[in-house]
Amino acid sequence: MLAAVRSAAVLGVDAYDVTVEVDANQGLPQWTIVGLPAASVKESRERVGSALLNSGFLVPPRRVTVNLAPADTAKAGTAFDLPIALAFLVATGQLAPHAVERRVFVGELGLDGALRPVRGVLPIARRVAAAGADALVVPPANVGEASLVRAAPLAAPATLAVLVAQLRAGGPLPAPRPAARAPSAPLDDPLDFADVVGQGAARRALEVAAAGGHNVSLIGPPGAGKTMLARRLPGILPPLSESEALEVTTVHSVAGILPPGGFAVTGRPFRAPHHSISAAGLIGGGSIPRPGEVSLAHHGVLFLDEMLEFPRHVLDGLRQPMEDGRVVIARAATSIAYPARFTLVGAMNPCPCGRAGDPTGACTCSAADVLRYRARLSGPLADRLDMHVSVGAVAVAALAGSAPAEPSAAIAARVARARAAQVERYRALRSVQCNAHATGRWLDTHGGVEPAARAVLAAAAERLALSARGYHRVLKVARTIADLDGEPNVGAPAVAEALRYRGGLHRRPEGAGATEGSLGRTAIPRWRSGRR
Ligand SMILES: Nc1ncnc2c1ncn2[C@@H]1O[C@H](COP(=O)(O)OP(=O)(O)O)[C@@H](O)[C@H]1O
Ligand SMILES: [Mg+2]
Repeated sequence: MLAAVRSAAVLGVDAYDVTVEVDANQGLPQWTIVGLPAASVKESRERVGSALLNSGFLVPPRRVTVNLAPADTAKAGTAFDLPIALAFLVATGQLAPHAVERRVFVGELGLDGALRPVRGVLPIARRVAAAGADALVVPPANVGEASLVRAAPLAAPATLAVLVAQLRAGGPLPAPRPAARAPSAPLDDPLDFADVVGQGAARRALEVAAAGGHNVSLIGPPGAGKTMLARRLPGILPPLSESEALEVTTVHSVAGILPPGGFAVTGRPFRAPHHSISAAGLIGGGSIPRPGEVSLAHHGVLFLDEMLEFPRHVLDGLRQPMEDGRVVIARAATSIAYPARFTLVGAMNPCPCGRAGDPTGACTCSAADVLRYRARLSGPLADRLDMHVSVGAVAVAALAGSAPAEPSAAIAARVARARAAQVERYRALRSVQCNAHATGRWLDTHGGVEPAARAVLAAAAERLALSARGYHRVLKVARTIADLDGEPNVGAPAVAEALRYRGGLHRRPEGAGATEGSLGRTAIPRWRSGRR
């Protein structure tokens, strides 16, 4: 007998309908799954068989064919376990066909028949809301994200046996208990800028970056506080809007990294992948496409600590998402897009030993070593980092007993004001909320750039051999500086400050003394200006 059960699958950040058909015939006992199943789907046969037996159902020896329709899109993941089990029960006469009609089922089955969480339930719920259904049945751990969308009535039984009993009983399925949110433990160490001693230049740069959505690199010796500074950036960013939070939660749902209970992400993401990450891990993709770190950092911060330790081809993959705000992964039949609008913060040592520019002259690297080291950051990528900031080590004497510095809340208030000015400016432009996302051309004509500012910029463009992109990026940073100052126009001082962030790698680190160690007499060129 032939049975069909509705389910759904995820492609990119959207879901589409899948019908799970099961045909259980007389013949040599065997299971076949068709419809482009990946290995994880093929294995569902073993899980489903055990789950059925251990839940007290019969698994008569039949020739079973499972078809996942539409048959021409690749299926991955474990969410078809539940619909396959139900369709098998219908096909073998253990469940009436009308019990599963107009209902959508997703869930992984444990060998004992328990319903386990799956990826992408949020986009699936959105799809069900659009397509219409009498019920959406999900594993209990996915209830939080499923209830973010007003989809069909939800059900979340704990096991296959419980679900089948409810389906046999007829009538609407019992609504799930609202998932309890685990009380979040108070952080012992809330990351606050008040803890950071000194580092005025880096603090200012991060404030500008937060206010306008600009990318920053922090360059300095180990232990100077680069990681400490970067981790405090999300705390001064404006809170996520509701629609932004839903976008972030969707990506995290698809990646299967929502916290237990599957609640919405409410804070700005902060992603700090290790430098051993693969290109697919950072950018996204793989044989079964997954969002990469750039997408998990959507609307938040992507922090690349020890940025020059990342393989260059991995770093260069950042260029396209940084430009477009999304990642497009081409597949034979389709292409998949993941959102990827993030603020990049890179931390790096100035040289392999990390002590270039140290006042004690302790650097042991040759000039050639240093050049080679810095060349790991390609020109085009360096060009996309709007601000390069030197972070010098703070003297230990300054750390002891120092008064707390300005707290994050005060900085966040200034950032919020600057953002409000930008929202006002870009009201008429869809998809632009902050200066970093505006086009340079638009800012050039509508950004209120004063003639004097333009003159400073033109002279510097010549001197620094700025690329067109570099020119526009300086303009955007300058616009943000003016916004922080509450200035309607961009004046020469704002441009001058923005220009100081362009070549920062080669200035003496803040707080450092007169000598530059072994680099003192060696001319090191600036980051190559990046023309692709
Ligand atoms: N400016 C600073 N103010 C307060 N503590 C600091 C500062 N710089 C460094 N530290 C201390 O040193 C530790 C190491 O800093 P870290 O951010 O890991 O340095 P880096 O990433 O530059 O190697 C921090 O956890 C902090 O305890
Ligand atoms: Mg560090």
